[in-house]
Amino acid sequence: MAGYILALDQGTTSSRAILYDDHARPIKMAQQPTTLQTPKAGFVEQDAQQIWQTQISCAHDVINQAGLLATDVTSIAITNQRESIVMWDKQTGKPLAPAIIWQDRRTANYCKTLAAESADNSMNKSVNQDINQGANHNDINNDLQYDMAAQVQRITGLRLDPYFSASKIAWLLENNPKLSVRASKGEIAVGTIDSWLIYKLTGGEHVIDLTNASRTLLFDIHKLAWSETLCDRFAIPMTILPKVLPSDGDFGKTKKGLFAKQIPIQAVLGDQQAALFGQGCLDAGMAKNTYGTGCFMLMNIGQQPKLSEHKLLTTIAWQRKISPTRPDNLSFDQILQSGKRMLQPPKKEVTYALEGSVFMAGAIIQWLRDNLGMIQQSSDVEDLARQVDSSEDVVLLPAFTGLGAPYWRSDISASITGMSRGTTKAHITRAALEAVAYQTYDVLIAMQKDSPHPLTELRVDGGAANNDLLMQFQADLLDVPVLRPRDTEITAKGAALLAGLKTGLYDESTMKASWQVDRIFEPSMSIDAREQHLDKWQRAIARSLMQI
Ligand code: G3P
Repeated sequence: MAGYILALDQGTTSSRAILYDDHARPIKMAQQPTTLQTPKAGFVEQDAQQIWQTQISCAHDVINQAGLLATDVTSIAITNQRESIVMWDKQTGKPLAPAIIWQDRRTANYCKTLAAESADNSMNKSVNQDINQGANHNDINNDLQYDMAAQVQRITGLRLDPYFSASKIAWLLENNPKLSVRASKGEIAVGTIDSWLIYKLTGGEHVIDLTNASRTLLFDIHKLAWSETLCDRFAIPMTILPKVLPSDGDFGKTKKGLFAKQIPIQAVLGDQQAALFGQGCLDAGMAKNTYGTGCFMLMNIGQQPKLSEHKLLTTIAWQRKISPTRPDNLSFDQILQSGKRMLQPPKKEVTYALEGSVFMAGAIIQWLRDNLGMIQQSSDVEDLARQVDSSEDVVLLPAFTGLGAPYWRSDISASITGMSRGTTKAHITRAALEAVAYQTYDVLIAMQKDSPHPLTELRVDGGAANNDLLMQFQADLLDVPVLRPRDTEITAKGAALLAGLKTGLYDESTMKASWQVDRIFEPSMSIDAREQHLDKWQRAIARSLMQI
């Protein structure tokens, strides 16, 4: 079977479109930057129309650049920045507010208050009240004490944090009384970025895939349905939420006139879940770390949604509507070798993952470039950092938007400590790279405590995975081999693979052949040196936590 998969990868700082051939090889890529707006402290927004315009323009460009026609494209796959939300008019399709991005912290106090509230109080709580007055913990009704944070984790696998979509939607409704009225009349729609793109592509479908739904803080990951309880608590009418589909569901066809043919959208995954799939982490215990704007480590934990006891997230990795199952005693490799497939009937299958979300990774490098002017372009960072042998005592704590896993402190700010008269920009740059690896180490430690599977290797991808200095330091800190594949654009590939498997363009052997190792970084640091590094980082974290 011949054909191409068009993967749309809508990330935090750019929209991209990549075409994959019938062997899942990337043949062309088009990319356009998107603009982040920060109108007030804690606010991070984007123009939803710009998200759409850049994405569709990349889709057209990539087909043209490849010298293909839309009729050559078998299927569209979508992968996207998660948690960010768009609200739009159901009739006109016009956005009703700027998209609120996952990094936005405007609802930090609101979430903090909810976490400490009684059930009765939380029902009547105003988002504005908390934003304007700050968290007030004195009005807790002890008789009705109710741990909403625990309930949120039980239902969604997540934490009560402004990172996720629910409080962002609640904020929009509360701050725009007209929207709230229109929401109750069913006139508006809300969705994550996948929903928004699908709506625009199809000209009206209001759907979301399960992995994106699982990042909203409104989705029950056990029942695989929107949680009435949580929608109620956040005062979000369920009528404005999209219909949830499996990751390889039928999301509709592109509307007439958009391309030369109506192309079906057949796979949708949040970007981190797509990377887990693209990295071939199909068996429980396999893990990947993506170094994008943030840094997201996910471990496949199989078909049971185990809740974290160490401040990680439990999330849906994917749901495949039709998934080949295999005898328990055979691995994927053995099945491929023996040529046996589909030995049991197909069934609907959900795979879960443990996730550690780190908010700042590549974004620290962008900050060095754009705010401090220390480098011309991101790729200069390695050369500059290599000008010194170590960062000496310098520690860059990148809490620019608070700290994510495993600290979850939205109230902490960034700092650079340990500088001396001899500190140069090379030391600071090296400390910035080290901060990415230290944060990943903290997540890994939590993951090892939660998971029954010891981590024996870490697969890496994303832009900063091409930085050899960082990858070696990462392997040294984690004390496990770090495996970098040849193609580090794994996110789009993961979504493309899922679409190709669904349509029959690919099979399991395409999947296997699509992942090839470029380099393995073996740990080589002495135990003493490793402990000194970790001690330096842990002291900086402790100082910062104490200063609050
Ligand atoms: O959860 C946020 C994440 O999906 C953003 O990914 O690649 O834009 O940093 P990225």
